[in-house]
Amino acid sequence: MKKVKIGVIGCGTISAIYLKNFTTIFNNLLEVAACSDINLETAKEKAEKFNIPKVCSVEQLLADPEIEIIANLTNPKSHYDICVAALEAGKHVYVEKPLSVTRESGMKIVEKARENGLLVGGAPDTFMGAGIQTCRRLIDSGAIGEPVAVTAFRATHGPEDWHPNPDFYYKTGGGPLFDVGPYDLTALVNLIGPVSKVQSSASITFPTRTITSKPKFGQAIDVEVPTHVTSILTFENGAVGTFITSFDMWTPQPPFIEVYGTEGSLRVPDANTFGGPVYIFKKGASGWEEVPVTQNYNQDSRGLGVADMAFPLLTGSKQRAGSDLLFHVLDVMQSIVESSEKQSSCPLTSSCERPRAFDGITFG
Ligand SMILES: NC(=O)c1ccc[n+]([C@@H]2O[C@H](COP(=O)([O-])OP(=O)(O)OC[C@H]3O[C@@H](n4cnc5c(N)ncnc54)[C@H](O)[C@@H]3O)[C@@H](O)[C@H]2O)c1
Repeated sequence: MKKVKIGVIGCGTISAIYLKNFTTIFNNLLEVAACSDINLETAKEKAEKFNIPKVCSVEQLLADPEIEIIANLTNPKSHYDICVAALEAGKHVYVEKPLSVTRESGMKIVEKARENGLLVGGAPDTFMGAGIQTCRRLIDSGAIGEPVAVTAFRATHGPEDWHPNPDFYYKTGGGPLFDVGPYDLTALVNLIGPVSKVQSSASITFPTRTITSKPKFGQAIDVEVPTHVTSILTFENGAVGTFITSFDMWTPQPPFIEVYGTEGSLRVPDANTFGGPVYIFKKGASGWEEVPVTQNYNQDSRGLGVADMAFPLLTGSKQRAGSDLLFHVLDVMQSIVESSEKQSSCPLTSSCERPRAFDGITFG
């Protein structure tokens, strides 16, 4: 099969796993033609490590007629500019989460893609991994009956003790909601369906954070976004969810996601990973029972969403992590922020289809 040529913009921390996967597990479908970064040294280092043939400026990369897809792995505040520049250059674009930092700018990306007949896709693609797809199969087969409720927790104390450049986590487009919320919300839309209403309360517990990772050890960050967010989600099918996402909690992580159905419950693995474990609790049982996770993509397969986007270009199939899903997740997050500010519930105006289930096929 022909390969789809991609260009990577943003060669920082997360690009390493993408480049590894593009050049190994997805190399029968994807070919990385060039990479770029505002810091060209960073791009050169990654190109050397992963044998990428060309390092160039963003403008040169976008002007390369052979490149069909841009993988936009920049920081959230650059997502919009790079997505729009890519679409204006006639390229499909896959963007790291979140789609953009405001609902309006996210919608402009989606509209620009539609006008130009191009695809937008984006992270997270973990929901296509073996763990969450095992849960999807169980729900679709009625193993827990009708899903009626869900809990989703993501409790950490922030990334300033490990990320080399953690400032962006505390600026617009960051915070636990926009940083890690997309994993859980995308998984929930995949498992339960779209959200129709949110009600939330949020706080900034610590107005400054001190970096304890290298190389910025000791520097202070002014916190601009809520770092503890509690929400009630009402889904279009009537199910109700409790969703807590925090950078303020010293606690072992509670169960990530649990889905409660009329005939049993499901314990869903970390939606920031691709694998298991998956547990089911059947009506009348005395405890949780582990369900084997047997599909492909149970390791860190970041880039799976790019493969799922390239495949339709070659075969005419439909991508799963597409613009409607990305925009709906962004809209839910923005509505959560607004609900907290207004102290009232916010109905959602966007919706999307549940992405169709993924059988874990190997692309190419
Ligand atoms: N680090 C993680 O563990 C992780 C995990 C999953 C997703 N993400 C997401 O990946 C994205 C990048 O995060 P990261 O941790 O790699 O950040 P990073 O700061 O390590 O890397 C981002 C890179 O993008 C470059 N960049 C920024 N603006 C640019 C522009 N306009 N043009 C060209 N290059 C530009 C920066 O120079 C930097 O090298 C974010 O959206 C983040 O939410 C990160």
